[in-house]
Amino acid sequence: MNKPELHIVILAAGRGQRMRSEQPKVLQQVGGQPMLAHVLKAAQQLPYDGIHVVYGYGGEQLRRVFTDTPVAWVKQAEQLGTGHALAQAMPSIPDNAQVLVLMGDQPLITARSLQILMIAGGDLAILTMRLENPTGYGRIVRNVSGEFTAIVEHADASPMQLEIKEVNSGVYRFPAGRLKQWLARLDSQNAAGENYLTDVLAMAVAEQLWIKTSEINDPNELLGANDRVQLARLERIYQLRQAERLMVAGVALADPGRVDVRGQVQAGKDVFLDINTVLIGNNFLADEVSIGPGCILEDCRLAAGTKVLAHSVLQGVVTEGECSIGPFARLRSGTVLAAGVKIGNFVETKKAVIGTNSKASHLSYLGDAVLGANVNIGAGTITCNYDGVNKYQTTIGDGVFIGSDTQLVAPVSIGTGAFIGAGSTITQNAPADKLTLSRRKQVTIDRWQPPQRRRSED
Ligand code: UD1
Ligand code: CA
Repeated sequence: MNKPELHIVILAAGRGQRMRSEQPKVLQQVGGQPMLAHVLKAAQQLPYDGIHVVYGYGGEQLRRVFTDTPVAWVKQAEQLGTGHALAQAMPSIPDNAQVLVLMGDQPLITARSLQILMIAGGDLAILTMRLENPTGYGRIVRNVSGEFTAIVEHADASPMQLEIKEVNSGVYRFPAGRLKQWLARLDSQNAAGENYLTDVLAMAVAEQLWIKTSEINDPNELLGANDRVQLARLERIYQLRQAERLMVAGVALADPGRVDVRGQVQAGKDVFLDINTVLIGNNFLADEVSIGPGCILEDCRLAAGTKVLAHSVLQGVVTEGECSIGPFARLRSGTVLAAGVKIGNFVETKKAVIGTNSKASHLSYLGDAVLGANVNIGAGTITCNYDGVNKYQTTIGDGVFIGSDTQLVAPVSIGTGAFIGAGSTITQNAPADKLTLSRRKQVTIDRWQPPQRRRSED
């Protein structure tokens, strides 16, 4: 006999009233990614035959975010409850299949716990967990001999049932054919007036099916986020996981509670992250990269030994060797720094390719610029790259010295070894190995009188 197909259904149609947001709940983010993306990532690690996402509230918004994700989208036009939501996905699932149901608001779920459910045995299985504060969760109700009898929602539970700490995670494995029959029999005679998926469990008990409950040791994995308080809690748990992952990989963290990872980080040996580092997108940090406090790095690739000093913001930056950046530097995309480059405080770069050992130590803007090696950019130098319509290139040769407070009006090029006098406005190409300056001669007015206070008229 063939192995039954495995179909995964993710319930993601709910509005998430309790979030008080215009966005569908599963688009709320954890670690910089929608909750649904995390759930999908865990689901995709199983050997599935189909993944079905039940969507509804804010559906178009949701589908736009996940356009490239290969799943079957199932619309639940009205949010009538979790049972009704699951029923929408069932017509395309064969009767002899296994159905794994997940909630879209459980971003911390791991493939490992899903595998536990898959191998738990029984005709159907539920992942449960024990919570100190089970408020809001469905309770796992058992008879005197400890056998599972039903799930009772918080709003419908008796005072005694409210004391139960073992709760329903919302993750189940069902036999598809039976599930279809049970779903068809659901009603909304309950506190929420909704079609509760959880009511099918009592039906399964009545039909004497073999029900396995698997309690997960780390309840953090299965926590749901119904409101922003819970969402913030999940974010913290997620971030501590990321911090631990980094430390295990050899990264030194000044404080694992004060680093935020919103994407992927690859790090070499002896990388150091000071407090309040935010890492967004895909960052690659080679050996001995050190990031000062309060820095933001997005999609950067930093070579071994690069030091980023306090409060710098780097976006799409590549360093090709040991560089020093900041404090208070802003490096934007297209910035490529060769080995030994120094970018100091209050310097902004954009599409700037800077050669070996060149320095811009203070207060500059370098945009659409190519700099050779050993260039010295004086304080206050600005590339005037934009005429209000188009952007133009500035090219600076090896060994150039740009005096302080110079404006380089692009397109313009400065020849190798040239010197530019401080305070110049350079509008034409400057030749190599010569001093070029454009400021007026200094004058002193001998007969000048300091201004006098005017006598009052009255
Ligand atoms: C649900 C369970 C509860 C369990 C908890 C675990 C039910 C009735 N209750 O409660 O036993 O302890 O999850 O986190 O199932 N959804 C739809 N369509 C709807 C309603 C909801 O797709 O009409 C989706 C939501 O988008 C969400 C998921 O189903 O992703 C769960 O809905 P939610 O309202 O969060 O259920 P809980 O009250 O948390
Ligand atoms: Ca929930």
